[in-house]
Amino acid sequence: MDHKIIVITGGTTGIGFACAAYLSNLDYQVVITGRSKENLEKAITKLGNNSVGVLSDTSSLTDIDDLVQKVKNQFGKIDGVFINAGIFKASSFENTTEAIFDETMNINFKGAFFTIQKFIPILKNPSSIVLNTSIVVFKAFANSSIYTASKAALESLSKVLNIELAEKGIRVNIVSPGVTETPIQKKSGMSDETIDNLLEHFSKTSPIGRIVQPTDIAPIVAFLLSDGSQVLRNEKIIVDGGTTL
Ligand SMILES: NC(=O)c1ccc[n+]([C@@H]2O[C@H](COP(=O)([O-])OP(=O)(O)OC[C@H]3O[C@@H](n4cnc5c(N)ncnc54)[C@H](OP(=O)(O)O)[C@@H]3O)[C@@H](O)[C@H]2O)c1
Repeated sequence: MDHKIIVITGGTTGIGFACAAYLSNLDYQVVITGRSKENLEKAITKLGNNSVGVLSDTSSLTDIDDLVQKVKNQFGKIDGVFINAGIFKASSFENTTEAIFDETMNINFKGAFFTIQKFIPILKNPSSIVLNTSIVVFKAFANSSIYTASKAALESLSKVLNIELAEKGIRVNIVSPGVTETPIQKKSGMSDETIDNLLEHFSKTSPIGRIVQPTDIAPIVAFLLSDGSQVLRNEKIIVDGGTTL
């Protein structure tokens, strides 16, 4: 049987890794990216035979070109891309520096934009692109202005892509996670106490009574990447345990 081939940007930890593990268990071939060699090697060891790792910084167009070339050389055409690589730096609007602005937009939006653009020639007809955005697009959180703008930009792109890429059989849909327990919080600059309070708040106020885990997101992403979602366009699935109801 032919394996379906999916590229996951930022597949070494958190949501991306959980999706890679879920898909490789379903016999997909997954290609994951990340910047940390150590994390990439750890992830590939855990994922096993159905996985390939490529060190690639999504904010670098040269790295994206190299990634596409490597994937093309090894697999030819692919079935989908999960645009997942992303960062969050907690900062009030007034304290957001140009460096935080550029880093966030370059990874979360520019990287996503050009990754999609450069993968188009090797996407099959039909194929699926899934964008990882966030509930911040419709529910305001303090200290997340540039992160929120980067995710809103990504969501707005989805509509246009669904029109422009329709004739190539490429569909674009969105997964919008709520606060999910991953390494992103520790990398955000928030103190351990703030993170604990945040996770406790979302556990207590959620209808599911606990924080969302990356493994909760994986089956949703797998569905959007699968043939079962072939007629969906610009659909957004909110995976937040009901916290924004
Ligand atoms: N956790 C949440 O509460 C939450 C909620 C909504 C949406 N999201 C979104 O989910 C996505 C994944 O985040 P996560 O929560 O799973 O956090 P995470 O564990 O920190 O995962 C981020 C992944 O992206 C990679 N990455 C970061 N910058 C990169 C770059 N420049 N080039 C390539 N890879 C890069 C990381 O690897 P390296 O560090 O090695 O580069 C890692 O594999 C992000 O887009 C985030 O915005 C998260």
